[in-house]
Formats: sequence, C-alpha cells, structure tokens
Amino acid sequence: MRDQIAAGNWKMNTTISEGVALAKGLVDNGKTTADKMIVCVPFTHLAKISDVLSSQLTVFLAAQNLASEASGAYTGEVSAAMLKEAGVQYVLVGHSERRTLYAEDASILRKKIALAQDAGLKVIFCLGEPLEVREAGTQNAVVQQQLEDGIYHLSAEDVSKLIIAYEPIWAIGTGKTASPEQAQDMHAYIRSSLETKYGSQIANAMSILYGGSVKPANSKEIFSQPDVDGGLVGGASLKLDSFVAIANSF
Ligand code: 13P
Repeated sequence: MRDQIAAGNWKMNTTISEGVALAKGLVDNGKTTADKMIVCVPFTHLAKISDVLSSQLTVFLAAQNLASEASGAYTGEVSAAMLKEAGVQYVLVGHSERRTLYAEDASILRKKIALAQDAGLKVIFCLGEPLEVREAGTQNAVVQQQLEDGIYHLSAEDVSKLIIAYEPIWAIGTGKTASPEQAQDMHAYIRSSLETKYGSQIANAMSILYGGSVKPANSKEIFSQPDVDGGLVGGASLKLDSFVAIANSF
C-alpha cells in the first residue's frame, strides 16, 4: 500500500529555536496514524533539526528548495550535496511560490529534480492550477502539462521515487480548501495520467498529497478520499497540536 504522509511546509516561518522546539514536540508526541511525518524547514534550521530527528523513524527532514546547479559561483544558493550532508532526506521542487515568485520554469525544475535524485534526495514534486484556470474548468489540461513539462522525461525508476503534491494555488493560504470531491477528482486524474505514461504498478504505488488550507477541521475528510495519500500543510503545520491532529487524520 501507499505511504500515508503528513508533510508540514513551514515556509519562511519560525526562528531556529522555535523550529527545533516544534520538531522536538513532534518526536516526543511519537507515532501518529500517518506512516510518516515530514517537516520542510528553512535552510538555517536543517542541521540542528537533523540532530533532533536522528535515531527515530517517525518524522523525516525536508528542505524547501535546492539550487539548480551542482556547485560554484552561485551566491546565496544551497546545493543538493550540502542538503544531503545536513541530513536532509526530502526536498520540495516546483512549489507554486517558487514557480510564481521566483520564476522557476520547467527547465529549472527538471535540473533541480536531477540534482536532487543524483544526491539521493527524495523529491516532493508540487503542481496545481491558478484560480482562473479552475474557473475556466481547464485544470486537468494544465496539470497534465505540468506533469509532462516537469517529470515525464524521467525513467520509470526515477518517477517512482517521487512524491506528488497537488496544491491548487487558489487554496494556498486562502482558507479556501478544495472540496474532498475536487481533491479526489484531481488526484484520480493525476494517477490515471501516471498510469498512462508509466503503467498501473507505478501509478498505484506513488503517494499523491493534497495541499491548500488543510487544517484539523478538514483533514480527515480530505485524507479519506481513495486517491489522497496525505497532505502538504502550510500554516496549520506551525502549531504542534494542529499538525499532530492532522497527522492523526488517517
Ligand atoms: P497552507 O496550508 O497555508 O494553505 O499552505 C499550503 C502550502 O502551500 C503547502 O506547501
């Protein structure tokens, strides 16, 4: 069966000490009904939180970004090798905030995925449509294009190592969640697209997370959808109690 995952994307929130306390709280809380929890933390927090998360198999460490080059004169960037040595296991690629605010296009995302996978990092590949696309009803075509541009050049082996996160942009940070039916419809669409390209064995084994205003009040209903394998949670992952409640929604 597929991994049921509660991932928290802290974005540019928490100081190092606040982040360490939150990570410690998750470890001390112990096992939830999720198969795993993942925390996507700021670069500055990684090495310290890696120490907090060592020698346990409940909470895993992710970076929110990585450089699109391996090393060299790229002031301000952080490479896949640096993340790996800091103890990182997962990395987000293609988050809508990176795509829109930092102009990351598909060619950049493909380079990041290659570098991350070469370094042994597992990629959480994010996609999702903006509001005007949802209103026009063309979200499936837009998401299909994001799959084709972002990951369909990968081998079956490499694609099977990905986690997909569907995050409709109109639901991120807006309090406006996709309905369980909207989430299920898109997740089923993504899985059928993966099946067409890579076959049912791979498509059925890949975890597809939903992101966009997930909170304890809606997580159970969303996660109970057959093609929703968990959540990528922003705001509600910053409070220990609410993230634990979400991670106990499976
Ligand atoms: P919110 O849960 O704050 O809407 O953020 C979702 C998100 O972008 C997670 O990556």
